[in-house]
Amino acid sequence: MLHLTSIVDLRAACDRARGDGRRVGLVPTMGFLHEGHRSLMREARAETGFVVVTIFVNPLQFGAGEDLDRYPRDLGGDLAQCEAEGVDVVFAPTAAEMYPRGAPLTTVHVDRLTADLCGAARPTHFDGVTTVVTKLFAITGPCRAFFGRKDAQQLAVIARMTADLNLPVDVVGCPIVREPDGLALSSRNAYLSAEERTAALVLSRALEAAAARAMAGERDASALTATVQDLVAAEPRVELEYVELRDAHELAPVNELADGTDVLLALAARVGATRLIDNVTIAIRGGEATADLGKRSQGATNI
Ligand code: PAJ
Repeated sequence: MLHLTSIVDLRAACDRARGDGRRVGLVPTMGFLHEGHRSLMREARAETGFVVVTIFVNPLQFGAGEDLDRYPRDLGGDLAQCEAEGVDVVFAPTAAEMYPRGAPLTTVHVDRLTADLCGAARPTHFDGVTTVVTKLFAITGPCRAFFGRKDAQQLAVIARMTADLNLPVDVVGCPIVREPDGLALSSRNAYLSAEERTAALVLSRALEAAAARAMAGERDASALTATVQDLVAAEPRVELEYVELRDAHELAPVNELADGTDVLLALAARVGATRLIDNVTIAIRGGEATADLGKRSQGATNI
């Protein structure tokens, strides 16, 4: 496995791989890797011949007062995990390598899809994400890029950006990976105390309960969001920021679960000082609803 820190070297490695007839698979991350990231690497390994994992805590996507300075980092551990997954290249640049002139004058903004949900509480976040992902796509060149549905709004925004700008990238969405007890894996779970972690389980349980109501025939969006609100309200350590039902692709608000659609029930919440997000996708076909909460990993943990 190659460990690269320079843009020129990564571009050359990807050009060489494509020259050898290999398809490049890109897995962008901010490191402190866990089973969720590893599932993306496995998907990339299965679908492409040259797997590139990027590890970069992107300052541009953190707002003032957010956790940039204390975001968890473990490059040694991350490299070992990438090696174990058969990754070909880890690209872990410095901020000076990615932003040699400081904050860039050119940024990428995706309208509408970034305006609410997480964009409401984090107004500069998605511009930071789309700008760094565009840079990573430009450096890597034509590839398949793997993103988790855990960050469903991020995935929708990146897919739209890639289509709007004709970037030579196939964006692939991958299932949410959860702890055996249901908590969605996140590098930020490392911030939770034991009590907070237990309290945080209400989030996946509430989504599961709402999904169960949809599968039992409930089609009213406000009934599903109320299910989540009521369950979370009973957990004093958890404060719901939002829970909303949206079209899974366009993120447009949805009042009713209509046949033939895929909807996203998405939430953000504060557990103590830690902000967590989670979601479930519900598909309605032939009058039946099916829910995709992702998969539970076998005892993997990052806390
Ligand atoms: P990060 O939070 O490190 O996540 C990297 C990728 O892993 C994202 O595509 C995210 O959706 C996916 N991921 C995280 N937790 C997951 C889980 N439990 N199950 C499945 N996939 C999961 O997202 C970012 O970094 C950054 O915004 C980035 C895209 C790298 C741009 O800086």
